[in-house]
Amino acid sequence: MSAPNSGADPHLPEFYSLIALESVGSTNDEARNLAENGAPAGTIVWAKQQMAGRGRRGRVWNSPIGNLYCSVILRSPVSPTMAAQLSFVTALALGEGIREFLPSGVVVQYKWPNDVLIDGKKFAGILLESQIGEEGMLDWVLIGTGVNVGSFPSDTERPATSLNQAGAELSVVDVLTAYAQSLWSWFALWQRDGFEPIREAWLGRAAGLGEAIEVRLPNEMLSGTFDALDTSGSLVLLTSHGRQIISAGEVFVGP
Ligand code: BTN
Repeated sequence: MSAPNSGADPHLPEFYSLIALESVGSTNDEARNLAENGAPAGTIVWAKQQMAGRGRRGRVWNSPIGNLYCSVILRSPVSPTMAAQLSFVTALALGEGIREFLPSGVVVQYKWPNDVLIDGKKFAGILLESQIGEEGMLDWVLIGTGVNVGSFPSDTERPATSLNQAGAELSVVDVLTAYAQSLWSWFALWQRDGFEPIREAWLGRAAGLGEAIEVRLPNEMLSGTFDALDTSGSLVLLTSHGRQIISAGEVFVGP
């Protein structure tokens, strides 16, 4: 399958307005500044490199030229619990957006809560940051995504990969275009039909579902079987002590 848009500029649905930068500290920080000053939903901050890219759990996200770093501002008057579902919307947008450009036989999976894997190796990460308004409802959410397109780090706890390494010949612009188009569709589906179709699609490609996994919590490591995703997006783990509902943690799948 040929790339969606091999030119120099991404072709984005009208919903978006793109702010393209050569270099920033973190696109999430730029987007936060814009969101706090009233930038509309659909604003995307895209940088060719980041000097202070951030991952989840305070980790550094190394951000050399050649990979995708962007943050999308969305606004939707929903509860904080529902807003957290947007990490699954985003994972699907990334995975389904690029899946058709990978060689057949290459497997895309989602790792709870919001990593996207190719053949078991992480190629994309998502960092959601939000502000809750006075009424207790979401004011804005920033969806920061880092996608390994041309390179991937070699010093991660679990192996990583990139789209090019997996055989997809895509430029950063191609990936931004495919992701933004896909996010627009999945976000619209979520707004129209709620979490259920998102949950089902995500579970259809969930890494470790029905298998023995380990979950790292702040003070302990749990072992059990990954049984389900509940209706709010928490992981249901069957342990020797019973059923545990986990809303935050780090999952380890496989040997
Ligand atoms: C993770 O730890 O898996 C999440 C990584 C998120 C990285 C992206 S890159 C664009 C945006 N800006 C940041 O500083 N972080 C996110």
